[in-house]
Amino acid sequence: MTETTDGPDGVRLREHIATELARARARTEVLTDVVDDADLVRQHSPLMSPLVWDLAHVGNQEELWLVRDVGGREPVRQDIDELYDAFKQPRRDRPALPLLPPPQARAYVATVRDKVFDLLDGVTFTDRRLVADGFAFGMIVQHEQQHDETMLATHQLRSGPAVFDAPPPPEPRVRVGGEVLVPAGEFTMGTDTDPWALDNERPAHRVHLPVYLIDTAPVTNAAYAAFIAEGGYHDPRWWSAAGWAHRQEMGLTAPLHWHPDGQGWAYRRFGRWAPVRDDEPVVHVSWYEAQAYAAWAGKRLPTEAEWEKAARWDPATGRSRRYPWGDGDPTTNHANLGQQHLWPAPVGAYPAGVSPLGVHQLIGDVWEWTSTTFRGHPGFTAFPYREYSEVFFGDDYRVLRGGSFGTDRAACRGTFRNWDYPIRRQIFSGFRCARDAGPEEASE
Ligand SMILES: [Fe+2]
Repeated sequence: MTETTDGPDGVRLREHIATELARARARTEVLTDVVDDADLVRQHSPLMSPLVWDLAHVGNQEELWLVRDVGGREPVRQDIDELYDAFKQPRRDRPALPLLPPPQARAYVATVRDKVFDLLDGVTFTDRRLVADGFAFGMIVQHEQQHDETMLATHQLRSGPAVFDAPPPPEPRVRVGGEVLVPAGEFTMGTDTDPWALDNERPAHRVHLPVYLIDTAPVTNAAYAAFIAEGGYHDPRWWSAAGWAHRQEMGLTAPLHWHPDGQGWAYRRFGRWAPVRDDEPVVHVSWYEAQAYAAWAGKRLPTEAEWEKAARWDPATGRSRRYPWGDGDPTTNHANLGQQHLWPAPVGAYPAGVSPLGVHQLIGDVWEWTSTTFRGHPGFTAFPYREYSEVFFGDDYRVLRGGSFGTDRAACRGTFRNWDYPIRRQIFSGFRCARDAGPEEASE
């Protein structure tokens, strides 16, 4: 083992970082090696980048933050910074850019990674905020995993024969349904202590919520199909004004990738059609659709704070956990994460992942829309750059929580926040409902 100046903790952290970087890269390679070069440079949807853009962008961010900033090394390819700047290049325009062709993109990310492993050997985890606890490395690991999920969503939009295979998710092990009552009171939202938590998850702060009820499980395909069957898509009473206008304009009648199949529905997932299964969480719905369903069901979407309290608050101790099941990292027993399976698991499949209040499948399966617009927690400070979160704050984006089957565990925690436009549904998005407690319920 290499001698280091920062003791056994530094050695362990270095090994952890190396493992996580390698794990992310192995996934990136799976996502970019399963198709040929022509497929990598093609744009499969105007919503998405060509896969080869994501690939080199992952390397470019790694070069900017780790090679140049943390390592203080010479640039590898300063000339391409602009091409892979997500803010300068809108997704729809990316195919027309003079992008690195696949062989060069692969060589570039490999060169960057080589330099990163070299500098990781010699890095000292000082108290400089960017390197303390390996933060910048953790940020880059999460960035690559987030793009891997984006690339998986691109694959879901790809036409042509299926290229992925994975075992189906586990079958239900317990019966799960109904709602859980969450008593009124304070809980701690956000975190100060999770070393790789991003700026928008910080700081920890106390939030008081009145009593409410939240669904024990995400809304299932069967429940959502009932909304469709009862004319939910054709009744403006259930929709927000903006949602109804969007529904009309786009002619929405069902989740993305659903098609009528005889008496029921079929769902296209990664190039294969399968009957829509009743007990799986619905996926590929927009915030507008989720909101309309909730109104039809006599409920509403949970606020972000309601989601997080249901996921993290332990009434026995009063503290907030990292995950519903405790502070330990997710295993395959806890949640459907990390592209181990290619669709959400049926409700009841993860009893080991239940929260102290008895709420299931908060982590994994589907990103869950909340009613909350994306803003900084009280006391927020942008770190290490405004473009990670702060420039997205405001009324345009709604927060999603909990991660999906396509989210890696490195980029998923009880505090992790995602955000998107309310029209978006190419992401692995579903939801659960909540409601205010009635007077009798509240006094229970
Ligand atoms: Fe990015």
